[in-house]
Amino acid sequence: MKVLIVGSGGREHALAWKIAQSPLVDEVVSAPGNPGTATVGRNLPEVNGEDATALVRAAKEEQVGLVVIGPEAPLCIGVADALREAGIPVFGPGKAGAQLEGSKLFAKELLDRHRIPTGSWKRFDRAGAAKDYLENLTAWPQVIKADGLAAGKGVFIVSDKVEACAVVDQIMEERHLGDAGGEILIEEFLVGHEVSIHVVTDGETLLLLDPVEDHKQVGEGDTGAMTGGMGVSSPVGWLGRRATRQIEQRILIPMMHALRVEGIPYQGLLYAGLMITEGGPKVLEFNCRFGDPETQAIMRRFQSDIVPYLLGAATGTLDKESPPEWDTRHCIGVVMCAEGYPGSYRKGDPIHGIDRAEALGTGDDVVVFQAGTKQDGPDLLTSGGRVLCVTALGDSLHDAREAAYGGAERVRWDGAFTRSDIGLRPVTISTGN
Ligand code: GLY
Repeated sequence: MKVLIVGSGGREHALAWKIAQSPLVDEVVSAPGNPGTATVGRNLPEVNGEDATALVRAAKEEQVGLVVIGPEAPLCIGVADALREAGIPVFGPGKAGAQLEGSKLFAKELLDRHRIPTGSWKRFDRAGAAKDYLENLTAWPQVIKADGLAAGKGVFIVSDKVEACAVVDQIMEERHLGDAGGEILIEEFLVGHEVSIHVVTDGETLLLLDPVEDHKQVGEGDTGAMTGGMGVSSPVGWLGRRATRQIEQRILIPMMHALRVEGIPYQGLLYAGLMITEGGPKVLEFNCRFGDPETQAIMRRFQSDIVPYLLGAATGTLDKESPPEWDTRHCIGVVMCAEGYPGSYRKGDPIHGIDRAEALGTGDDVVVFQAGTKQDGPDLLTSGGRVLCVTALGDSLHDAREAAYGGAERVRWDGAFTRSDIGLRPVTISTGN
């Protein structure tokens, strides 16, 4: 079988890397792909990953048996619906399900309707009303979110009125995020530990993947601006069995029930960004796709063939699959960024040393997944803010960190930087075993 992957980031490189190992798969093609996906399959650089017509045509021409859609943007515009209508099995929800990520308001209203725990919130469609509300608040910090898709840049933690009003102006008056900022939510700031929970589902059966801890802020000690994610650690040792049960019973099962009773079909990946608070898990956000860089760690640790699970979700037969095997080793993923990220960043710097990083350790201990890279003849150049993710497996968190940072030291370009504390977040909560 041939599998088509839609997208061009690090998540898609990790998916292509894992899917290409399946005995069921003859070839992985990526639309448009990146230099990393080209090392494990074939790219279709001329196919726009957000053009449903072009993707349906490519899927038919290539006679693919499965399409896996990586990013949220194509899902939110209905690319999965178009592929399904053409009779092509697709891993990824249709436009209706993708609204969970495409509109923060839609998600919050659905959560409240079904009494799924989340922080309290208010919606605003005018900057003046939002600022009046902020004037009277006494509890700080607060969270301000743009309603629409903002490529990971639509969430702001604000610590006082002045900062909050400036963010409201940027989003609603100056439209820094374009149409995504037509409406905003002002939300309660939840205190606890954040965890990324990924669920593969065909709308009926849920397969909970091993949890991952992301590090979203750019600076050590969770400081500085929000990013798409600076690094990951998995498994998550502090997340006990009691908390995992609560996540299933209070959030995931009610969420799937909510989607069913609201008539929203959902086949693909449901990613819950959760805060584990003293009062139990609460939803920060839902995403309609695999996390990035969470996927890089999940693919490294998922030991079984992933294709039957993706196909099972796409075709409604997930209940036929046995639970997958996981590598018990620890995985650390360190994202290497271009100077300036998450603001405007340098581009076009030659990248060296990926092969030297991957030669570290034994076997495939270190694997580098490319994201913002571009091939220019024989040269690999930086072309995005998050350039690549160095992943490593180790028998302990310490060993995985040594290997991942050892790998990252061997990869070089001018202005490259990482966060140095991936996997070291202090644990201040007990979630029961
Ligand atoms: N790493 C966060 C995200 O994928 O949304």
